[in-house]
Amino acid sequence: MELGLKGKTVIVTGGGSNIGRSVFLAFMAEGCNTVNAELDEAQGQKVVDQAKSLPGKALLVKTDVTDHKSVEAMVKKTLDTFGQVDILVNNVGWTFDRLFIEKPREEWEKEIKINYWGFINCTRAVLDHFIARKSGAIVSLGSDAGRIGEWREAVYSGCKGAVIATTKAVAREVGRYNIRLNVVCPGVTVPASANDMSKYSLWQESFKIFTPEVQQKATHAYPLRRLGKPEDIAGAVLFLASDAASFITGQTLSVSGGYSMM
Ligand SMILES: NC(=O)c1ccc[n+]([C@@H]2O[C@H](COP(=O)([O-])OP(=O)(O)OC[C@H]3O[C@@H](n4cnc5c(N)ncnc54)[C@H](O)[C@@H]3O)[C@@H](O)[C@H]2O)c1
Repeated sequence: MELGLKGKTVIVTGGGSNIGRSVFLAFMAEGCNTVNAELDEAQGQKVVDQAKSLPGKALLVKTDVTDHKSVEAMVKKTLDTFGQVDILVNNVGWTFDRLFIEKPREEWEKEIKINYWGFINCTRAVLDHFIARKSGAIVSLGSDAGRIGEWREAVYSGCKGAVIATTKAVAREVGRYNIRLNVVCPGVTVPASANDMSKYSLWQESFKIFTPEVQQKATHAYPLRRLGKPEDIAGAVLFLASDAASFITGQTLSVSGGYSMM
């Protein structure tokens, strides 16, 4: 399917690791001007360098999605460089699995800041531009945790549920400007190698829990009997961001091998 993404300008937050990295490289392969809005500058640059042979143009902008001023500066830098923004991918997220009653408050606060404030800051920062152009697509990374509630991920589930609900609400408000917002919910999706992880990746800690043995056991909860690969998620993100999905808004798509069937 021709996605018609060539020449579009795309911001991918957290494009240094795992899913964001794969999404960044996929937009580069389509010939997009692709911004890697990443907190880990060295890892972000590594991924930009890996994309050198691809047809798109890459830009790394060190960004902290939890800080609205940093996000606004990143959007301005994108506009100064490429003249417009067509697509935002809200990819950054973070959690550490722990029972609700055992979680320290600082971990909840970190989860809320990164997963929900990060989404709000980035979404808000592109909307004036999208409204002025009467065009734009936002794809946010949710989680099946936000649809069904996942044990040991109570506040993270709440944040991802909030991303889903806020996506629907904003989609209702801005649909009249031809702006679409959708959510992709991965299941467990493990980085292919330690090279594909930033120093801020949730996998730095999560690999201590998701040992190869646990990963193997976890596949039994998936009807397709495997965990996700970053490329599985990138395909769905590109589709929803593209004109091929021009009549789809406010929707949530699980890409999780049937783990949740909503
Ligand atoms: N991997 C999974 O199993 C899984 C499952 C369900 C949902 N998700 C969601 O998918 C998204 C990507 O997951 P992942 O596994 O690739 O995550 P990851 O932690 O490996 O990558 C996140 C990236 O965001 C960057 N980042 C972290 N904090 C940032 C900040 N404040 N500002 C800018 N960049 C920052 C990190 O450096 C990293 O490169 C997240 O939203 C996550 O919640 C992942």
